[in-house]
Amino acid sequence: MNKSRILVWDAPTRVFHWALALSFVGAFVTADSERLRDVHVVLGYTVFGLIAFRLIWGVVGTRYARFTSFAFGPRAVVAYLKSLLTLRPQHFLGHNPAGSIAIYALLALGLLTGLTGYAHYNALGGEWLEDLHEGLANAMLAVVFVHIAGVIVSSLLHRENLARAMVTGYKTGDPTGAIRGARWIVAALVVASVAALWTGVIPVTDTAPGASAMATSRPARHAEHDRRR
Ligand code: HEM
Ligand code: HEM
Repeated sequence: MNKSRILVWDAPTRVFHWALALSFVGAFVTADSERLRDVHVVLGYTVFGLIAFRLIWGVVGTRYARFTSFAFGPRAVVAYLKSLLTLRPQHFLGHNPAGSIAIYALLALGLLTGLTGYAHYNALGGEWLEDLHEGLANAMLAVVFVHIAGVIVSSLLHRENLARAMVTGYKTGDPTGAIRGARWIVAALVVASVAALWTGVIPVTDTAPGASAMATSRPARHAEHDRRR
């Protein structure tokens, strides 16, 4: 087979991936701190917003970004896992069947964690809601670890650096498998939306309109309120 360097992941999928990883880790490490509550909320909404975009891109995006290209049944998953044991695994240019399960789990858990965070933030439930929110976030972290382990194992068995492909978009394969365009304009819109959330241009915390959501934390505002009284 004629093999060359071909474009597989479009730019929106790559921007989505690394922005999601960054926001998830950021939301997780700021979750415990009252002082960083606003940062946590902004990053949580970013996770939710990115996944909402990904659901649309999974329908209208390029070949390997589409859900139809990684809609595998249980049989395909078992066959792929068995092929891993033979150390000569089946090769997929897009997502492999086992990886796809982790991806769907990450998308679902990210949405649910965001929704329960929103509901808890707006006092729509009691302590059970906070526990549920935390439980979902921890479940997502567990799947992230499995996901990263899967990426490492697949990369070693296929002698193919999958993480680098998620950065550059390129893999080695048959030229007929390549996607045609990277869709940079859509990727730029995703970057602009994330920037608008992070700078407070799209306000999502209860900070005063126009103020940077990242700049003023809740306790700081409470302290000011107390001083005024
Ligand atoms: C930290 C949180 C992370 C989350 C929430 C996450 C989530 C995801 C999601 C949702 C996808 C599907 C991409 C798509 O089609 O849209 C994916 C794919 C991928 N991720 Fe991550 N990821 C994380 C971290 C990482 C890290 C640290 C690496 C690098 C070691 C990595 C490497 C990859 C690769 C290589 C793929 C493509 C897999 C394939 O070839 O089928 N991810 N990830
Ligand atoms: C989707 C990504 C998110 C992750 C990974 C995440 C993670 C967490 C974790 C692990 C906790 C528990 C912290 C602890 O008490 O130890 C927490 C608490 C909390 N989260 Fe999130 N969260 C996310 C999204 C959100 C969103 C979108 C909001 C609000 C709109 C939010 C609001 C809160 C609030 C208010 C708490 C409660 C803290 C408290 O009262 O002690 N989170 N989050």
